[in-house]
Amino acid sequence: MSSDQELSIESRLAQASHYIDEVTGGVTPPIQLSTTYARDDDYEYIGAHSYARSGHPAWLVLEKVCAEIDGGAGALCFASGMAAICAVFETVDSGRHIVAPRIMYHGTHDWLRRIAQKRGIGLSLFDATDIEQLRAAVRPGETEIVWIETPVNPTWDVIDIAAAAEIAHAAGAILAVDATVSSPVTTRALDFGADIVFHSATKYMNGHSDVLAGVLVSGRDDDRWQDIREVRKLTGGILGPMEAWLLLRGMRTLALRYRKSSQNALQLAQHFENDARLERV
Ligand SMILES: Cc1ncc(COP(=O)(O)O)c(C=O)c1O
Repeated sequence: MSSDQELSIESRLAQASHYIDEVTGGVTPPIQLSTTYARDDDYEYIGAHSYARSGHPAWLVLEKVCAEIDGGAGALCFASGMAAICAVFETVDSGRHIVAPRIMYHGTHDWLRRIAQKRGIGLSLFDATDIEQLRAAVRPGETEIVWIETPVNPTWDVIDIAAAAEIAHAAGAILAVDATVSSPVTTRALDFGADIVFHSATKYMNGHSDVLAGVLVSGRDDDRWQDIREVRKLTGGILGPMEAWLLLRGMRTLALRYRKSSQNALQLAQHFENDARLERV
């Protein structure tokens, strides 16, 4: 049997990072539904948990696998992709500045416009096809988050993560990447210099259209990461135990599903490559 460090991303996903339940030896985690956890006679919690909004055993294996497949220091799961996105931007103070693509997932766009208006946060938008526009948009010392989405939904434009990271860092900002469309099976944004990677796990990660979920993975366990964790706890945008269990099960086949989807997409592209009715494939 291979040691944990040697597991490929495919095996890590299929075996949930080689999970074995310590109590029963089961290879899938139990579904623990409790929201409240008992204290002993000294009023100390008996186990590691206190209240489900603060931390739930159902997240532990899921977040461990998510952090590992993206090569991060930690992961946080949320009730939806938007709950995760909102938690990231909730850490930005009034008077600071955010840069994001002009065209991107409409929910993120609407949320950014809203907080820019209501909280006095500067917002600059750039054309995802022109990295020089991103360079011109950042404000050194003022920009706090550069948010990119790659490939962009719905244009499928690809943004150079390493170039965006260099621009963000030179301005003193962090780079956060919405990698919903490019799962960690093909692209690990942290490896290219991103600080935080986001997935709407509702899509490829879960893959069965039966769970709404969001996942953030951070390269570092720093103050912002702790702040995002605190926002999740206080706003309650948490993933329910049933959804966490289903997501972990869905992720077991992520590598296989992603490979098949990519093969199908290539086949379609090749089929239409020379079709005179189409402008571009
Ligand atoms: C690229 C992208 N980011 C974020 C989201 C939001 O995720 P959710 O629907 O899980 O809240 C979506 C949803 O379609 C998306 O496609």
